[in-house]
Amino acid sequence: MLVSAAEMLKKAKAGKYAVGQFNINNLEWTKAILQTAQECNSPVILGVSEGAGKYMCGFTTVAAMVSAMVEELGITVPVALHLDHGSYEGAKKCINAGFSSIMFDGSHYPIEENIEKTKELAAACHVLGLSLEAEVGSIGGEEDGVVGMGECADPKECKMVADLGVDMLAAGIGNIHGKYPANWPGLSFETLEAISKEVGDMPLVLHGGTGIPADQIQRAISLGVAKINVNTECQLAFQEATREYIEAGKDLQGKGFDPRKLLAPGVEAIKAMVKTKMELFGSVGKA
Ligand code: 13P
Repeated sequence: MLVSAAEMLKKAKAGKYAVGQFNINNLEWTKAILQTAQECNSPVILGVSEGAGKYMCGFTTVAAMVSAMVEELGITVPVALHLDHGSYEGAKKCINAGFSSIMFDGSHYPIEENIEKTKELAAACHVLGLSLEAEVGSIGGEEDGVVGMGECADPKECKMVADLGVDMLAAGIGNIHGKYPANWPGLSFETLEAISKEVGDMPLVLHGGTGIPADQIQRAISLGVAKINVNTECQLAFQEATREYIEAGKDLQGKGFDPRKLLAPGVEAIKAMVKTKMELFGSVGKA
């Protein structure tokens, strides 16, 4: 059964560890992440971007696949199925499709509209037992080949959004989606401390988990980060393993590649990456 992320993140914040959100793109990634969470006895959050949802034939297909897989694989650790950077329309679709957690990224709306929509979605989620994540400030990343530096959120604005009834808050502290540029100044712990003081027990979310040095991850957890999102690092690990397999020329003598064999090294690479992250985040054994 899928569960809301609220309870697992409350426990994580109190226990000073973080639950990993790993994004899924297909059946193989989902299976690899679920099996690793079970092996590590760790709670886990499966993130689905709107693009990945579309690729996997819509949110209803994703929810059905994940729920069935949890059952068929005998997964007993807490699993949340979470919409990543959802639009208002996407959030509503996922609520109806059977997701157990939603991120509403209303950062592009005027603040009043963002507040209205966040309040409405928080009420809808809570009636159904789902959790809701909101974003304050903007998280940098690559757009049209240009890497935008992560902005720092305003702690007072964080407090205002936290009070709208959300369960977790993604606040920009200089983090960026994708690979960090060589001149990245690192996370702003000053901002994180100020936000933590304002929002009290609210679990904080760190996006752009790829490539943040381990000591900065651990310091962020000690200051209230209870959920860390990782996507690019799994993609890179998958790519490397698949490339090696193809370059080794292991095709089926003129019949092409067996997809199950072709994807297997990538799946193993994702499993290893997820395990490394769960160990770093401290969620192993916390299910
Ligand atoms: P990375 O791709 O940088 O790991 O970030 C993932 C993320 O934050 C998804 O919301």
